[in-house]
Amino acid sequence: MKQRQQHELQIAIDGPAGAGKSTVAKLVAQRLNLFYVDTGAMYRAIAYKVLKNGISLDNQLNVEEIAETTEVVLDHSTIQTVWCDGEDITQAIRNPEISRAVSVVAAYAGVRRRLVELQRLEAARGGVVMDGRDIGTHVLPEADVKVFLTASLEERAKRRWVELINSGKETSLDEVLQDMQQRDRQDTEREVSPLEPAPDAVILDTTGLSVEVIVAKILALA
Ligand code: DC
Repeated sequence: MKQRQQHELQIAIDGPAGAGKSTVAKLVAQRLNLFYVDTGAMYRAIAYKVLKNGISLDNQLNVEEIAETTEVVLDHSTIQTVWCDGEDITQAIRNPEISRAVSVVAAYAGVRRRLVELQRLEAARGGVVMDGRDIGTHVLPEADVKVFLTASLEERAKRRWVELINSGKETSLDEVLQDMQQRDRQDTEREVSPLEPAPDAVILDTTGLSVEVIVAKILALA
């Protein structure tokens, strides 16, 4: 298993869906020998369990109870495998139906409280690159580097659509764009920890930029 570096560098990468956070965060983590924590995967794991158990998304109390009682584990010995109560859900949580359900689940205070607790425990174990929506503003307000990645809605939807098609999921670009717009609205308008840049975050618009260029910019900040 990979060892974390001693100096415990914390890098927070926030931004809307499809801005390139996970691709960039994984590479930065590899280059600096830090762990990568995909917090979106944790919210997706709860959405997965809620749908699997046939619980209504509108039932806040039941959804919060699921968050309290579900074991979510990010396995860092591989690139990153996501486990939910002992089941490997790495692929399953990328389905469009989970993407649609997850913004609802992520808006509930009790779900966020529980997952933020787990995310801080991850960070307490050592140096980390963490991506999400509220990492710089809420989860790790003392992070050494805070980056807010954005890109135009059209470019973000196109990236996500290509990803889905490449992994064999059938969907249209228009459907992905509509879903993304809806999710952006839910993530930015929710009351608890809405998506917004931390005042001390560096804002990087990735439209038209290659992954390598973005990674180099973040490494320079670190
Ligand atoms: O990054 P992603 O698409 O896998 O995120 C899934 C959802 O979880 C997204 O709708 C926003 C939410 N999320 C959040 O509210 N806070 C985080 N730190 C990470 C994700």
